[in-house]
Amino acid sequence: MSREIRITPSILNADFSQLDNEIKRIADVSDLVHLDVMDDVFVPNFTFDFEAAAAIIATSVLPVDAHLMVANVDEIAVQYAEIGCSSVTIHAEATRDIPQTLKNIRTAGSRSSLGIKPNTDISDYEHVIDDVDMFLIMTVEPGFGGQSFMHEMMDKVRRTRILIGDRPIWLQVDGGISMKTIEYALDAGADTFVVGSAVFNAPDPAAMVVSIRQFATSHGSK
Ligand code: DX5
Ligand code: ZN
Repeated sequence: MSREIRITPSILNADFSQLDNEIKRIADVSDLVHLDVMDDVFVPNFTFDFEAAAAIIATSVLPVDAHLMVANVDEIAVQYAEIGCSSVTIHAEATRDIPQTLKNIRTAGSRSSLGIKPNTDISDYEHVIDDVDMFLIMTVEPGFGGQSFMHEMMDKVRRTRILIGDRPIWLQVDGGISMKTIEYALDAGADTFVVGSAVFNAPDPAAMVVSIRQFATSHGSK
């Protein structure tokens, strides 16, 4: 089996006082940078408002994979696409009109992505598959970095891989991914890996990204 692997480090556990530099540290070895936007409503944590996120996106040396953990995301999601994010993830639980918002994200020039929390079933969203460029299966409850990987999500990842079939849709997992856990997500069919604390708590974040990619690539080609 050969599958293209993407590593998208999350800067949630990086040094927020110098995010430009933190992104530069992993830029040469990463596919995109994963930006966790939290509003303290949809999740019990706050990271950036739109203005602060836009400043990061404007100067990022890596394409930005925006993960919007905000309530009533329909309108703001399109604004994230308009300011140049490579991909924009909306949560199914936070979106009023999912197909229309996914279409709007694409029209504004970004990859459209639908994320679901651990208690949300993928089968409820099969009908929007033609509007999706990526599915994000949360492998922790969204809100914080450094939580334990939920092995019980692997059945959902497997079912999503089957649902995707031959379509060129990326399948991302987010939460608790590390050298110890990535193999389970790989085996279940994920191809795009958010890695937060395992990268930014490592002594050398770029070396950790390289190690994770090497492991994933060799594991995937078995
Ligand atoms: C959690 C965020 C994740 C987080 C992952 O709600 O969506 O992107 O940064 O961090 P780790 O890899 O530490 O679980
Ligand atoms: Zn995330």
